[in-house]
Amino acid sequence: MSEKRSGVIEVVNFHKSFGGKKVHQGVNFYVRKGECLGLIGGSGTGKSVLLRSLVGLEKPDSGSILIDGEDIAPMNENELINIRKKVAYAFQGGALFDSMTVYENLAYPLREHFHYSEKEIALKIREQLAEFGLPESEHLYPGNLSGGMQKRVGLARAMMMHPEVVLYDEPTAGLDPYNTKRIQESILSLKAKGVTSILVTHDMPTVYAVCDKVALLQNGRIGEQYTIDKLKSEPEGPMSLFINGESA
Ligand SMILES: Nc1ncnc2c1ncn2[C@@H]1O[C@H](COP(=O)(O)OP(=O)(O)OP(=O)(O)O)[C@@H](O)[C@H]1O
Ligand SMILES: [Mg+2]
Repeated sequence: MSEKRSGVIEVVNFHKSFGGKKVHQGVNFYVRKGECLGLIGGSGTGKSVLLRSLVGLEKPDSGSILIDGEDIAPMNENELINIRKKVAYAFQGGALFDSMTVYENLAYPLREHFHYSEKEIALKIREQLAEFGLPESEHLYPGNLSGGMQKRVGLARAMMMHPEVVLYDEPTAGLDPYNTKRIQESILSLKAKGVTSILVTHDMPTVYAVCDKVALLQNGRIGEQYTIDKLKSEPEGPMSLFINGESA
C-alpha cells in the first residue's frame, strides 16, 4: 500500500459481533511509531478482542487493521507469521505453557522462528532472564512461580523476538506495588528502544507512568485520544468520568 498512513498501527471502522452481541461498532484509532497508547474501557467492552485482532487471532466482521500500512484482516495463517514476528502480544494472564520450564517457554518462540544453535538459545535466554529480573528461574515450572514472576516471564517470552510492536493485556493486574513498578520499568525500557505499544489496563497509575496517550473504548467505539496532560486538565470530561467510576 503506497498511501501514507498516520501510524504504525491503524484500525479503521472495525466491527465485531459475537452471536447477536455487537461488541465493536466502528472502532477507529492509530498509534504512531514509538508511542504507547493506553486503552481503557469497562469489562467486556472488547479490549482483549481488539488486541487479539491486531495479531490475527480474531478476524473483524468488517474494517481494516493496518500494521505498517498493510491490512492484516484478510491475511491467512501463513501470511500472519511475519506479522507475529513484528507484533508481540503479552497475553492477559501470561499464557505460559504449564508443562514446560521457564527455559523451555522462552526457547519456544526462538525454535519456532529461527535456526539458532542450542548454545545461542541458552545465551539469549540467560540474557533475557537477567534483563527481566528473573535469574535462576529457568528450571522452574510456571506453577511454581508467583503471579508477578509469571507475568514477567510472559513478557520476557514475548520480547524474545525483538518485536517492533508490543500489545500488553493487563500486565499489572493483581500485582503488588514492587512487581507493578518492575513491569512499568520494562515497558519504559522497551519504549526507549523505539518499541510502539498498546497497554490495555484498569491500572491508571501505570497508564500515567508509561503512556503518551489514552483512548477509551465505550459503547463499541473509541472517541478522541487524549494526551495525559489533556486528561488531567479535564476532570469533568467523558474519560475522567469513566476513570472516576462515574460512568460505565
Ligand atoms: N470467542 C468468543 N466467543 C463469544 N464471545 C466472545 C468471545 N471472545 C470475546 N467474547 C465476548 O466479547 C466481549 C468482549 O470481550 P473482551 O475479552 O475483549 O473484553 P475486555 O474488554 O477485554 O474485558 P476485561 O476488561 O474484563 O478483560 C465479551 O462480552 C466477551 O464475552
Ligand atoms: Mg480483557
